[in-house]
Amino acid sequence: MDPTVTASEGVCILDPLTSWQELPPEQMRERAAAFLAEMRRRRTVRDFDSRPVPREVIENCLLAAGTAPSGANQQPWFFALITDAARKRRIREAAEVEERAFYSGRAPQEWIEALAPLGTDQDKPFLEEAPLLIAIFAQKYGVRADGSRYSHYYVPESVGIATGMLITALHHAGLVALTHTPSPMGFLNEICERPSSEKPVILLVVGYPKPGCRVPRAGGVKKPLEAIAKWL
Ligand SMILES: Cc1cc2nc3c(=O)[nH]c(=O)nc-3n(C[C@H](O)[C@H](O)[C@H](O)COP(=O)(O)O)c2cc1C
Repeated sequence: MDPTVTASEGVCILDPLTSWQELPPEQMRERAAAFLAEMRRRRTVRDFDSRPVPREVIENCLLAAGTAPSGANQQPWFFALITDAARKRRIREAAEVEERAFYSGRAPQEWIEALAPLGTDQDKPFLEEAPLLIAIFAQKYGVRADGSRYSHYYVPESVGIATGMLITALHHAGLVALTHTPSPMGFLNEICERPSSEKPVILLVVGYPKPGCRVPRAGGVKKPLEAIAKWL
């Protein structure tokens, strides 16, 4: 946001009714354990049914992502929502050009080996079959009404956090998603009608799993607590 236009001064109370509320320890434990169980049910899906997704559900998930913390509250993200068949086809065609180059030489052997257990390849039918593609753009800078620019801070961190919250919200709402990153994905600017000042960072494929959809076991294996955290 342009800080000169939107600055609202002062502080407001952290209202226990509308904002943070302390919970009894037992309820905290239950909620944390229940949330963990729900998140353990999330998997990246690569086979999508073509049924449309409810627009209101998607918009609430986007608003949830939009509550994410961001450097200086600049909210340096933009979500382009693609449901139109012709646009999805263009995205698939452009992505497959990049993916063919990736799998047939551009990617280092070590990267190809890391992907092998997931069984991914250069064919991306889900880009046409899924009902919704969300192209996520990072805004390196903001533009004021008079055309002048101002810097955005901690852009990759902020967009990553918002994207994680979006994936979580979609899962919580009962949808599935694939975090897709064709590389490079500059073609998304033109197809999504976004300015060159915005960098496409992730193409989120959203919908319902195809009946009988399978997911790679390897993706579901997560590091144990002691490997990802340490009390100091
Ligand atoms: C930044 C990022 C980029 C990814 N890019 C791709 C991709 O281009 N294609 C793909 O099939 N999966 C992609 N994935 C999905 C991962 O392969 C997947 O999250 C991982 O295997 C763990 O599986 P899970 O999401 O089911 O837990 C990506 C995930 C992340 C976070």
